Formats: sequence, C-alpha cells, structure tokens
Amino acid sequence: MKTFETIPEKLTLTHDLSDSELSVLLQSDKNDAALFKSADALRRKIYKDEVYIRGLIEFTNYCRNNCYYCGIRHDNKNAERYRLSKEEILSCCTEGYSLGFRTFVLQGGEDEYYTDKLICEIVYRIRSQFPDCAITLSIGEKSRESYKAFFDAGANRYLLRHETADEKHYKKLHPPGMSLENRKRCLYDLKEIGYQTGSGFMVGSPFQTTENIIRDLRFLQELKPDMIGIGPFITHQDTPFKSYKSGTLELTLRLISILRLMFPYALIPATTALGTINPKGRELGLKSGANVVMPNLSPPSVRKKYELYENKICTGEEAAQCRGCLENRVKSAGYRIVTDIGNVKRETDIC
Ligand code: 5AD
Ligand code: FES
Repeated sequence: MKTFETIPEKLTLTHDLSDSELSVLLQSDKNDAALFKSADALRRKIYKDEVYIRGLIEFTNYCRNNCYYCGIRHDNKNAERYRLSKEEILSCCTEGYSLGFRTFVLQGGEDEYYTDKLICEIVYRIRSQFPDCAITLSIGEKSRESYKAFFDAGANRYLLRHETADEKHYKKLHPPGMSLENRKRCLYDLKEIGYQTGSGFMVGSPFQTTENIIRDLRFLQELKPDMIGIGPFITHQDTPFKSYKSGTLELTLRLISILRLMFPYALIPATTALGTINPKGRELGLKSGANVVMPNLSPPSVRKKYELYENKICTGEEAAQCRGCLENRVKSAGYRIVTDIGNVKRETDIC
C-alpha cells in the first residue's frame, strides 16, 4: 500500500481519509497552509479561475418551522414578515438577467401561502421568459410529488442543507416534529427526480463536535451532491440560541478546503455568512477552494428582513451594486466571474 508523507497529501491524492485522520485535520491549524494550497490547485485544475454567480431572490421570510438557530423561525415575533408577488419575483429575474445572471435561486421559509400551484406558476413563468437560465429552488422540505411538480414546471436545481447528519445533534438544533430522516428522504427524492442537488451544514453550530462534522462529511460522500454549501453558524438574538457563540472563520475555511479535496467537482459557494463573520471572508473562501458566489437580487426594501442571522452583509445595496462589488472582490482574490449557467463539471468534462 502506498504511504503518504502528510495527511493533506493523502487527501489530495485519494480524495478520502480515515475518521482519525480527518479528526487530526479538523482540530489543528498546522496543516492549513498545505490544505489551502492543494485545494486551490485542484479547483484551478478543474474550474480554472472561474467563479459562478447565482442570483439569490429571498422571496418570503414567513416560515412554519422553528429551527432553534434561525432568525426567521416561526416564533420570532420580532421578525417583520414579507412576501414577494409573482411579478416582483419576475422583475428581480429581469434585472438579474441584464446584470449577467444565468441562475436564479428562489429561497424562502416554508411558507404555505406559496402553494405548489403558485410555485409551479412562478417557475413556469421564469422558465418561459429565461429559457437559457437555471432555476434553483430552496424552499425546504416538501413531498416527493411536490418536488416532481416543480421539476416538471422547469426547476432544475434544489438546495436543502442537511444541517447535521447526526441524529442526536439534529434533535438539539430542531424542535420535535422535524427529523433528519425526513430531511434525508427529501434529498434522495430530489436526486432521483433529476435535480442537481445541493446540501451542506453550518460550521460551529451549538453542540457540534468533531465527530459530528466527520459524520457530515460521510453523509455527503454517500449523497454525492452537486453543490455543497457551508457557512459559520451566526448567533441571532431573537432565537433560543442567542447565548451561543458563532462558528469561526478558521474552521469554515479549513472545511471548504477539505470539501474541495474530497469532492473535486463540487460547486462550493463562498457564502454570505462567511462574508458576515469576516470582511474578507468570501475572498478567503474562494482562495480555500470555493467556486461560487451568490449575490442578492432581492429588492433592497426587504433585504434586512431576511435575517437568518445578525449583521448580515449586502442588505443596503441595489442588485447592480452587489454585482459590481462582488466582481471586484472576486478579482482581488485572483479569480474571475463568468456569466454562463455554471453547471457542475463531471469527470468526463475534463481532458
Ligand atoms: N447562522 C448561520 N446560518 C444559518 N442558517 C440558518 N440560520 C443560520 C444562522 N443563525 C442557514 C441554514 C439554512 C440556510 C438557508 O441558512 O443552514 O439551511
Ligand atoms: Fe453585495 Fe458586496 S457583494 S454589496
């Protein structure tokens, strides 16, 4: 059996590690420089210096759920609720299209106002008006039939973070009534229906252990998602987790590198949460292996209200400002925004 000099070298060459090796990587900073370097080299080999942009439309902050970490949870009476109409959503897409976006991400709380019929109508209108664009939904747990209906109406990608792959930890983050089992069922349904599927988890969420993170990585290996979104947990004062500490920049960057090396082809965003805990967070995320950014296309009047966590960035800007700002940030980190649809690459795409 081949022996490797270092753990990052083994991860780079085999795209896998044992639990105990992962545990060493996760708990010390001494391999970070090697990890970041290998992750960036691999992303450049596959995706060159390209960074894909996704236009995020946060169309409702009503939510029937009560996740303990989330600022738009149902029981947060301080959240000022809003919904965007079909026309408002379409005008966000029109503006986004003219700014070069070819993927629209419709994200919202689990809001029953948007029936399956309404979601299908919205998706169908976007699909008809922008046939060359990808439509991504991020609207939580639904039945297989609903997912199929959205897909048939023209949606082709879906984001649903699993949040934690450990049953006990899942119960500490969510109230009774929500289950890891159903979350996983949703993810497998989405994949089977034919969506390009994204999952992921928060880094540094309350009670998270190194073992939990290793289970997250193992679950992702089993699921094989096309997109993997991670970001630091950030405390929100109007939630039951108000006195828990936020996750760290360091561990999030380390995990982005580990993900890039384990999942060479994955689409990995440098998230807004990462940009919120550190002013250069997204740039550092890109340098650690991320290859997607998701600027906000929601109308500025509602942006502050979609407050999953505190001090969220980009809430005062117009879409065009956000797009321009990100262009400069991506350039300053040594990469380049491209405006094509940005599908996940497969092994067969690479010569
Ligand atoms: N801090 C960081 N991320 C959060 N999310 C929800 N609440 C928080 C928070 N307080 C993330 C969850 C969810 C995604 C849309 O936002 O992972 O899946
Ligand atoms: Fe939105 Fe900078 S990316 S303002």
